[in-house]
Amino acid sequence: MIPMTNKHIVLGVTGGIAAYKSAETVRRLRDAGAEVRVVMTRAATEFITPLTMQAVSGHPVHRQLVDTQAESGMDHIELARWADGVLVAPASANFIAKLAQGIADDLLSTLCLATEAPVAVAPSMNRQMWTSPATQSNLSTLQNNGIRLFGPASGAQACGETGPGRMLEAEELAALTAAMFETGELAGLRVLVTAGPTWEPIDPVRIITNRSSGKMGYAVATAAMEAGARVTLVTGPTALTPPERVDCIRVMTAQEMFDAVQQHITSAQIFVGAAAVADYRPAHAASGKIKRTADSLSLNLVRTPDILASVSALDPAPLVVGFAAETSDLELNATAKLRAKRADLIAANIVGQPGSGFEADENRLVLIDERGTLALPLLSKAAAARELIHHIAVLYHAKNSAENSRLAHRQ
Ligand code: CTP
Repeated sequence: MIPMTNKHIVLGVTGGIAAYKSAETVRRLRDAGAEVRVVMTRAATEFITPLTMQAVSGHPVHRQLVDTQAESGMDHIELARWADGVLVAPASANFIAKLAQGIADDLLSTLCLATEAPVAVAPSMNRQMWTSPATQSNLSTLQNNGIRLFGPASGAQACGETGPGRMLEAEELAALTAAMFETGELAGLRVLVTAGPTWEPIDPVRIITNRSSGKMGYAVATAAMEAGARVTLVTGPTALTPPERVDCIRVMTAQEMFDAVQQHITSAQIFVGAAAVADYRPAHAASGKIKRTADSLSLNLVRTPDILASVSALDPAPLVVGFAAETSDLELNATAKLRAKRADLIAANIVGQPGSGFEADENRLVLIDERGTLALPLLSKAAAARELIHHIAVLYHAKNSAENSRLAHRQ
């Protein structure tokens, strides 16, 4: 199963006997690395207590459409934005009918309408209810609307009958939820991502660095892996745990990052430079700690190598994607960087403002290439990374098919 490290999953529980399995579903989702928030309908609380769900998820259960405790009093919107994925398990026939009609009369149904994240339902009902024309037509509506269907399985039912309508087991639900994030768009390709800040030593205890947390680069590496690529992550010092199934190379200085990229880039078809590489480093790092004796002190700084530009200069070069962190004139500066560094795509964002950029969990990216500009909304870094990877995949496949037809023409 592909890991769901740091994925935000909303588990919706509706009224059905299979709700007794929901505690186990939370455990399996958390085992796979996901952070889980539980939303229960009123009927669900008749089958399993919110206290049980709170205990296994580690968070209070959400039950009300209007929650005066939530900052904005708009819990459904907050949760809808927070979610990377929504799993409704068990999904009753009634809930499936509501979702198919777009009825939003409680927290869970409203949340499903309000989210941009993928939504899946795991039906659980008596076999007659499952096979009824009404349920079947609601299910095809849901599937046409892009909602995924997990199961149901066939077998002995709580009502004593045997047939289709049994909810899948927790293990299967967790695996299918994880698979929602696998797109396969970069299957068979190798992607090299740089992330984090670099540390440039002044003396054995002091460094020059910047405020990069590495979150965006790590999210890009995760999204590329989920898109089927083999990913190498060259990372400066961060407090983050590297994504599973990604080859991680830790470096400290810009020069070390440059060397690691040079060593691994030849096998990559795509390069994403998300690191905030120090542009200058002290010309000489002092061998001992600099003492506080002088009234003033000057540091002589020299330029570090430009990693991104060095990758663009390779022949053949991979598809090159850079980031541009700007404090003003975003599009102008980013377009200049696209040309100066001969990149195929620049993901630009404003930094130095609260709520987006370096240390934040969300980011507002503007994607700029020679064809134009695409402004993404404010998204979690995970969602922004998925959008970016999708855009990169489209660009890569377009470039490659153009290249292939050019070669075919010459033959
Ligand atoms: N970059 C790099 N090597 C460097 C500096 C930057 O690979 N020595 C990459 C970054 O990873 C990013 C892109 O270049 O993808 C743009 O980084 P940024 O710091 O915004 O650009 P600079 O070239 O440093 O320009 P300036 O700081 O003057 O805006």
